[in-house]
Amino acid sequence: MNYLDALENTSDQLFEYIRVPPARDVPGLEEDARRGLLSQPRSLPPKYFYDDCGTELFEKICKTSEYYPTRTEDFLLKRHAKDIIETAKPTNIFELGSGSSTKTQRLLDACSEIAHFPSYTAFDISERALMFGGIELSKRYDWLQISLLLGDYEAGFMNVPRENGSRLVLFLGSTIGNFEQKHAIQFMKDLRHNMSQTDRLLVGFDRVKDRHILDAAYNDSQGITAAFNLNVLNVLNSELGANFEPKNFSHLAQYDADKAQIEMHLVSSCAQRVMLNNLREFIDMDAGERIQTEISRKFTDQSLTRLLSDSGFVVKKDFVSPDEYFSLVLAKPI
Ligand code: SAH
Ligand code: TRP
Repeated sequence: MNYLDALENTSDQLFEYIRVPPARDVPGLEEDARRGLLSQPRSLPPKYFYDDCGTELFEKICKTSEYYPTRTEDFLLKRHAKDIIETAKPTNIFELGSGSSTKTQRLLDACSEIAHFPSYTAFDISERALMFGGIELSKRYDWLQISLLLGDYEAGFMNVPRENGSRLVLFLGSTIGNFEQKHAIQFMKDLRHNMSQTDRLLVGFDRVKDRHILDAAYNDSQGITAAFNLNVLNVLNSELGANFEPKNFSHLAQYDADKAQIEMHLVSSCAQRVMLNNLREFIDMDAGERIQTEISRKFTDQSLTRLLSDSGFVVKKDFVSPDEYFSLVLAKPI
């Protein structure tokens, strides 16, 4: 089903849909590829995973038995939603990297229950995720005013106009763990800069745990995470005129306990030359050579508190799941 068909199937209640222009210069795919692929160690930023196909694969990852973060965070949201809404009393819930906004429904359910009716803004780079999330929410909550913002949250956040009242900013799914420490602090500082004293921030942090659980979560037995990782090569082929052969690469995700992070790579299975036509460049890869596609950092109470305080926030509540796999943290600007 394409987006327009999907729209026609919904009730009259539509949402606002806005493409957010970059508020500052951020590199596009060509520049990122030039920087990341032409020199060693080779790497790519994770935002290129989320084309239509990648977005669908990510949704499937979230449903695998090995990938505990989604269901654990969902459990925490369900359990503490009322407390969170009553504490933050938002007039607007503003979600970064909202994906399909499925877990957000826990908070909106609590809003319905206590008859507190904020508006909802979703900001994501994936049009597919935004549309499907928006349609689902508009069906479920007849009181909800929805704005869908399409753009790069690193480039566009400062351009988003704000209304009076208090915002509850959501950054779920441990997406913060996909940033290196320095980058994470910069990102959160920017966020802080755009928040007022009465705004609140709700962040999901995946926690340090037994490595077997972590390794399994990023190596599901159905190979969906592998397909998600390899799909970025299709994105490079279509957007960069490259000629990667996905079958000549394999998925590698492993936990580095010293750095407390999962590191995800694509590994070249043979010596091969790949053309990057739009860059008028090529790369020669040896068998076993890697491209790093993602890191996913894992946190302790100490490291998450530190990250927040270094970016100008103080922890108000740290909701930890009973298995201690995941933390949902409500923070406020210092
Ligand atoms: N919050 C959801 C999705 C997490 S996956 C959940 O917890 O399940 C990360 C989401 O962030 C994806 O929907 C992806 O499209 C989005 N994303 C990644 N990089 C982005 C960027 N630079 N700007 C905007 N959205 C981005
Ligand atoms: N924020 C998610 C995480 O770090 C993103 C993610 C889940 C992911 N599974 C992935 C990213 C597999 C790349 C590959 O857990």
